[in-house]
Amino acid sequence: MAPKFLYYFITVVGTAATTYTLLQLLRNPQTKEKPPKRKQNVADLIGNTPMVKISSLSKLTGCEIYAKLELANPGGSAKDRVALAVIQDFEKKGLISPNSGDVVFEGTSGSTGISFAMLCNALGYTAHICLPDDTSNEKLQLLESYGAEIEKVKPASIVDPSQYVNAARRGAQALTDDPTTDARGVFADQFENDNNWRVHYRTTGPEIWEQMDHDLDYFVAGSGTGGTISGCSKFLREHDDSIKVVLADPQGSGMYNRIKYGVMYDSVEKEGTRRRHQVDTLIEGIGLNRVTHNFSQGEAYITDSERVTDEQAIRMARFLSSNDGLFVGSSTSINAVAATRIAQRSEKGTKIVLIACDSGTRHLSKFWKEALKVDSKITLEQVLH
Ligand SMILES: Cc1ncc(COP(=O)(O)O)c(C=O)c1O
Repeated sequence: MAPKFLYYFITVVGTAATTYTLLQLLRNPQTKEKPPKRKQNVADLIGNTPMVKISSLSKLTGCEIYAKLELANPGGSAKDRVALAVIQDFEKKGLISPNSGDVVFEGTSGSTGISFAMLCNALGYTAHICLPDDTSNEKLQLLESYGAEIEKVKPASIVDPSQYVNAARRGAQALTDDPTTDARGVFADQFENDNNWRVHYRTTGPEIWEQMDHDLDYFVAGSGTGGTISGCSKFLREHDDSIKVVLADPQGSGMYNRIKYGVMYDSVEKEGTRRRHQVDTLIEGIGLNRVTHNFSQGEAYITDSERVTDEQAIRMARFLSSNDGLFVGSSTSINAVAATRIAQRSEKGTKIVLIACDSGTRHLSKFWKEALKVDSKITLEQVLH
């Protein structure tokens, strides 16, 4: 009698437990975690971005390679953090106030402009974006869709007064000085603005540290303004000085030589060899030939640099899309090539975190046009060739 009762008891309890689990899964089949709390403004969605393992690269190298998905910010890149920090700082200093016609000016070839366009709309300002006239169409269309004021200028060196950063600085001053309006202009100045690296020190770095359970060996990022690499590496190395920070640099940029040999020089600097005025590459957002305030704040924490060609980045983008469903932009792809090289010469199990700056959707007309020509079955050896 007892064993029969026990049998029924186990069957009933077992069935109930299975049904409960199935119901839970049906309610939310994708996650066992609680959804994020509801927010009051788009600005509140910024940060706390996910971290995901890149399975293909990890499996093939025997290391653990993770991507910090900054592309999951509401404006699609890490620049949301910077734009919010800059606007909040202007407000704190009384330089702008919401819904009073004040305008935030920025000189940017893309991501930062989109972040300002989004946040200005959300917080009661106008964004005025100066950019080179060869900026990709999808970025221009996004800015237009947000209704930002757009000023296109010819690509030029930073010493040229018509360069887009200088145009933005001038525009902000002209609006503030204009006696016919009370509206004020502020120049965001992402390259030199101290809030840039600090927001990564305050938020991105600590998030990575927590998400990796205080255990990582390498941090890999590119440098545009230098804000991300400076803020994150300073935070991470203050918590564990053995973490190595590697700057991934595109062709045509002087950062690689700066880190390796202390000299900012690239061979395309030779008279007559430069095709484009800033950095000679298809890669957008990273690479520079001058030391910015934001880069200088973290330079001492950078331990090494990897130079990556446009072709390697293009092939890696295709590889990640085909093998991992990760559809990334050009600077992320550069970071992935650098991370893979590091993994190949490291001990098994080495933990590497790279920044996934933005999505491939921002790069469809230029970078991804080339990536689409790559065979989707490309091997990792062929990618790194
Ligand atoms: C797509 C993309 N990746 C990377 C970066 C580099 O980030 P940082 O300016 O913090 O060095 C930028 C900067 O604009 C970017 O637009």
